[in-house]
Parts: sequence; C-alpha cells; structure tokens
Amino acid sequence: MGRILIFTGKGGVGKTSIAAAHAVKAAGEGRKTLIVSTDMAHNLSDLFMMELKEEPVELMENLHGLEIDPNYEMERYYGTIAKTFKSMLTFEKPKDSQIFEDIVVFPGIEELFSLLKIKELFDSGGYELIVVDCAPTGETLALLKFPELFSWYMEKLFPVGKVAMKVLRPISKAAFKIEMPDDRAMNDIERLYVKLGQLQALLKDRDISSIRLVTVPEKMVVEETKRNYMYLNLYNFNVDGLYINRIIPGDAVNSFFHDWKLIQKSCLEEIEAVFANIPVYRVKWYQTDIIGVEGLQRIVQDSLGDENIFKVLKTTLNETFTKTEKGYRLDIYVPLAEKGAFDLFESGTEVIIKIGNFKRNIPVPNTLRKYRMTTARLEEGVLSIDFE
Ligand SMILES: Nc1ncnc2c1ncn2[C@@H]1O[C@H](COP(=O)(O)OP(=O)(O)OP(=O)(O)O)[C@@H](O)[C@H]1O
Ligand SMILES: [Mg+2]
Repeated sequence: MGRILIFTGKGGVGKTSIAAAHAVKAAGEGRKTLIVSTDMAHNLSDLFMMELKEEPVELMENLHGLEIDPNYEMERYYGTIAKTFKSMLTFEKPKDSQIFEDIVVFPGIEELFSLLKIKELFDSGGYELIVVDCAPTGETLALLKFPELFSWYMEKLFPVGKVAMKVLRPISKAAFKIEMPDDRAMNDIERLYVKLGQLQALLKDRDISSIRLVTVPEKMVVEETKRNYMYLNLYNFNVDGLYINRIIPGDAVNSFFHDWKLIQKSCLEEIEAVFANIPVYRVKWYQTDIIGVEGLQRIVQDSLGDENIFKVLKTTLNETFTKTEKGYRLDIYVPLAEKGAFDLFESGTEVIIKIGNFKRNIPVPNTLRKYRMTTARLEEGVLSIDFE
C-alpha cells in the first residue's frame, strides 16, 4: 500500500530539506516516489535546481516532484465553487450562530485544493511514497483541520440532498443572510463534499498517512512544536516522528558556539524526554546550506539510516469509545495538554473540545446518543470523558 509522509514545522526549521532528503533516500532505494510542495512560496525548484510545475516532473530516477498551485487545481476541477464560497462568506454575521463562528476561522479556501490534489495523486496509484513538504506550522494546522471543519460546516449548511436543498433555500437565505449557491455550483459542492470525506479518511488512515514534525533545538521553536504535536493529536492525525535539525556538531570548537551548545543541550534533553514515545532523529548543522541531490544525500547518510523510516512508526489509537458500567467512555489522546485548558460541550450528536483557538468536533456514534456527558479528566496525556 502507498504511504504519505507529511512534514510540518515552524518557518525555516528545515522542512523542505528534510522532506526532500526522505524523497531522495526512498528513490535511491528503488521506491517510486513523489515529492509535493503545498507551500505557496515554493522552494523545491531551488533545492533541486530544476523547474517544477503544477504537474509532476522527473527529478531523478524514481523521483518526481511537483509544486501544487491551488488556484490551478481549483479552476481545473471546481470552477464555480470558489466563487460561490467567496460570495457566501461575505455575509452579515448573525448572532450566536455556531456555524458562522467556524466559517470565519477558515483561511483561504484555495489551500484545500492542495490536499485534494494529493489525494488524486495517491489514488492514481503511480507512487509508493508521497512526501509532502508543507508551509510553516500555522498554515499546515489550518490546512489539515480544514477538511473536517469544512465537511462539518457543509453538513450544517447543506444537511440534506439536492432536492431538499431547493426547498430549504428560501429559509436559509432568510435565516443566514447569505447567497445560496446556484444549481451548477451545487453539483460541484456535492462532489467536493464527497471528496472531502474521502480526503479526511485518507489523511487519518494510520496505515497510509504519517505526520512528521521538524524542529530545531531552540526554546521557542520547541514550545511551538509541542503545541503543534498536541493539536495534531487532538485532530486525530498520526504524528509518528520528530526531526531535530541544526544541531551544532560536537567537534565545532569555537567560542561563539559555546553558549549555543549549552542551550541546544538542554533543549535536546527536553525534546527527548517529551517525545519519548515517538522516534526522534537528529540532523546536524552543516557548514553550508543544502542544495541538490548531493546535499540531500548528506542528510540521508548522516541521519536517516533507520531502515524503518518510511514505515508507520507509532500505532496507538487517539480516539476510542469504550463501554463502561454505566455507559461509555471516550478517550482522546492529547499529549502535553494542560489541565484546565479545555472547554467541553456536547450537542447531542457530537462532543466539542476547545483548547485555545482550536476546536474539535467529535461525532458521537448513533447508538450512544442517549447518554450524557458526566465527568472528564486528564491523565498522562489522555482526556477521558464519561457518558452515562
Ligand atoms: N542542517 C542544516 N545545515 C545547514 N543548512 C541547513 C540545514 N537545514 C536547513 N538548512 C538551510 O536552511 C534554509 C532553510 O531550510 P528549509 O528550506 O529546508 O526550511 P523550511 O522549514 O522548509 O523553510 P520554510 O518554512 O521557509 O519553508 C535552506 O537554505 C537550507 O539549505
Ligand atoms: Mg520549505
């Protein structure tokens, strides 16, 4: 089965370099590999010193690359949709409407089309491994939670099929003060809706998709990496590897580096302790920047020797419903989350968990809907919610 490795992290930490090093390693071992950049500020072209396009081009034997142009994707497949959504989003915000609170947290809808392209490439079956080089953290998080959020909100806005939609239209218009899409767009919307469901399933399929975090040993970056790890887990993605980049080599003897080495040492210790349950790979700080396949080979040789590196490196489940004496329990893995940082709500059909600016709606299986949330506790990174 094909695999997808998604690399994410703060700006400038080395995502593109480390993602590309994986791609070069995989291709070198004979795997049909594709490297994809979803960052609007593409730099795979610079790295491989070749012009990449919005469709795959060959970079070396067994390795293709492309720089996704979300606007191109959107125009190509969903012509009317974007316009429709954009016009829908310029509405007057009604008071206390949950739906609209969610819409406003959407970044540019264009981003979504990068992910749909990845799904299309995966489905084409032409690649054993797809390596995804993402934009800096914030955008990736938004991007990854987007399909779920988007599906959720489409369900709320368009809860039923097309026929009912026609009936509903006058009501929606009055209630929400937005322009409802015309029939042509509606077909596109339904098509998109189905694809989004499949996309979510793909990105959360633990046998296929892994998220890998890239960080550097600096306090602030490490803090962001920890938050990122928590949120990705909250959204039920399988984060199964961490890369610490720009580690000053032990033999660098220079007074300038002396203090930096101490800072790095304490950060490295913290990272190893915090991320003890996933593999941590170390990449040293090279004397020159990383360019071309040769430059990438250095990273492969020095740091990516693990023969299992393309496999699923962690297989624990993040979200489980278990039967209890009085009802059932929902366990959610949210490593590094702090006690009291949560807000919990239930809406009959879903459990809503809020941490900081992030909100996750977990659908409750039909058979369990007659139960009510009673208690919640956080222990060792697992949030357990009892329903009775
Ligand atoms: N270990 C390293 N040693 C030396 N140079 C490095 C190392 N890692 C990355 N670089 C250099 O740092 C720069 C940024 O790296 P890279 O583009 O991989 O980061 P990024 O996280 O993808 O950045 P962005 O957030 O802008 O996409 C590049 O010039 C790269 O060659
Ligand atoms: Mg990059």
